[in-house]
Amino acid sequence: MLKFEKHLGHLLFGFILFFSFAVVTTYIIPEVSAQGIKETAETVHYTPQQAQGRQIYMSEGCNWCHTQEVRTGEENSGTVFRRGDIGEVTLPSWYAAQNPLLIEQHRRGPDLSHVWTRWPSVTWQKTHLENPEQLNPGTWMPPFSYLSDNDLNNLIAYLQTLK
Ligand code: HEC
Repeated sequence: MLKFEKHLGHLLFGFILFFSFAVVTTYIIPEVSAQGIKETAETVHYTPQQAQGRQIYMSEGCNWCHTQEVRTGEENSGTVFRRGDIGEVTLPSWYAAQNPLLIEQHRRGPDLSHVWTRWPSVTWQKTHLENPEQLNPGTWMPPFSYLSDNDLNNLIAYLQTLK
């Protein structure tokens, strides 16, 4: 009998301990802390048009390149593609009514939490979505000119909630 075979009980105990730790840290703690997030006056609720725009945002994969979370320490120090404030730090209550969340983890483009405050113009947003290269030469944001006018308007209505 191999040495470790005599200690299978220990191995099993270690496995159960590790598994329980993983369940508690990756599932139970986030679930419980999310329950504590309450809606406030700033919680965003969508009109049907904005909700459709949000669907397009997800189906076009905008969230693969853009986050929607300004973290502590970034305020007044972030860069968009010029130096400047990327906006107020994001509070969990803003997203209390949202499912799924679109805060995301990777920034291949700028954070969009306050993009409407930076670019509060339908014309700018439309030109940029149809041909980002025209406004920011060298950008790797793809053009979304294949979207219908209606889809673009819905998408922009959603971007207006990010202020
Ligand atoms: C492949 C990555 C990528 C994807 C996908 C992408 N973007 Fe971008 N986006 C960028 C980059 C890079 C920039 C910065 C340069 C520029 O403005 O083009 C940017 C800039 C922006 C800006 C201007 C932000 C600012 O602060 O000036 C907006 C608004 C925007 N994107 C919206 C969208 C929307 C809506 C979609 C989906 C329809 C999308 N992006 C998809 C990479 C991406």
